[in-house]
Amino acid sequence: MENRANFGSRLGAILAAAGSAVGLGNIWRFPSETGDNGGAAFILIYFIFIMTIGVPVLIAEMSLGRAARANTFDTYVKLSKGELLLGEVDDKRISKPSPFLWIWKFFGGLSILAGFAVLSYYSVVAGWTLEYTFKAGTEGFHGMTAEQVTSEFNAFCTDPLRPIVWLTLFVCITTGIIIMGVQSGIERASKVMMPLLLLILIVLGCCSLSLPGAMQGLEFLFKPDFSKITTKVALEAMGQAFFTLSVGIGCLMTYASYFSDKVNIVKDSFNIALIDTCVAVLAGVIIFPAAMSVGISPDAGPTLVFITLPNVFQMAFGGSPALGYLVTLMFYTLLTVAALTSSISMLEITTAFVSEKFSISRAKAASLICVATIIAGACCSLGFGVWDDIKVFGMSIFDFFDFFVAKFAMPIGGIALCLLVRRIGKKNFTAMLSNHGTLNNEGIVNMLYFLLKWIIPLLIFAIFINEL
Ligand code: PHE
Repeated sequence: MENRANFGSRLGAILAAAGSAVGLGNIWRFPSETGDNGGAAFILIYFIFIMTIGVPVLIAEMSLGRAARANTFDTYVKLSKGELLLGEVDDKRISKPSPFLWIWKFFGGLSILAGFAVLSYYSVVAGWTLEYTFKAGTEGFHGMTAEQVTSEFNAFCTDPLRPIVWLTLFVCITTGIIIMGVQSGIERASKVMMPLLLLILIVLGCCSLSLPGAMQGLEFLFKPDFSKITTKVALEAMGQAFFTLSVGIGCLMTYASYFSDKVNIVKDSFNIALIDTCVAVLAGVIIFPAAMSVGISPDAGPTLVFITLPNVFQMAFGGSPALGYLVTLMFYTLLTVAALTSSISMLEITTAFVSEKFSISRAKAASLICVATIIAGACCSLGFGVWDDIKVFGMSIFDFFDFFVAKFAMPIGGIALCLLVRRIGKKNFTAMLSNHGTLNNEGIVNMLYFLLKWIIPLLIFAIFINEL
């Protein structure tokens, strides 16, 4: 355990965790969910969920991961066995192994499986972004009609080969970074990619805001119409809050196992949520004013980014093809970079588990998972084309993976984390979050403990049952 890797600096740790959170979820899923669910009212509910459920669960996940200093599966097992690394056992029950060890193993196993599943289908969309970045950089979209963009996208994503080639490339890049290790791979990549991502976002936001009619887009984004709030909107908002913060399946638990004792988890969780929300809102600021300035309705669903936007950018910046070219290229580069900072965190869940469980090197573990991910991802991709008649519980293969991760494993994982916090008890939880008493944050930790023990699991459970 002494040899376990660590992030080199606090900034590196925050950027890596924020990189995990900021991803396609912010730039691809968030704007289309916002468009579908009525704009500002959805954003308001989403923000409430981020603050009341997302951040507390994030704090729980990271504090447990750091305390156990192990992969997700072993974290569940160690803590439920009463192997408290804090040496502050306030309750005999806690120091004894849980009689329900199999349940904790189930939770741990589920998160490993979900970590594998999420990377498999996420890589399909990430592969599309690579294709679009390549296309934007070479021939570009200039002069294409809306119908051409639509039919090209449909032809591309149903193609049996091309998307799989891009997906393979994307998974291999991810694996390369993971093999380089925690400090020289994950941390270094995050330190380069996160500032780049913010820079592109700001430049694109300014371009979009300079368009005529931008105000209308901002109104859609920021002026809530409360009549739009329904239970469906609330469910979607909770799903999005979990997905965007990467909580519930052990990504940030694994990252936190590389945190030093000095990281202030409470404060940094708020920082991560803040960065994540700002990026999502900025993505909205890029997309909605541009769409509205050319009279395109923003409720275009998940195809928004791949069908509507190339069009919107060409029309909005049509006066200057060079600007249109640059904006489009920057946008897809942004999407690819964001996908990569998230995908490395997904691969780290399974790599840490396989290499620690079977005592093999990171390189070997990551390479094995890389191959398996490409195979599973290829199945998801083929589900859009030649395998579109194959249904799993009535869903396409891709939708089934998404359902399993975002609507099943993540909420269950959220509840599991709350139960684990409850099991280790308040004194241990307080010690973990106050960095063994060196931080004076008792009030907020008490409130978090109360929320995690009572309110959040019930809330997740209620929404989860509703959703099923
Ligand atoms: N949070 C990432 C995003 O917004 C997605 C993600 C989910 C990352 C689960 C890791 C684990 O795109």
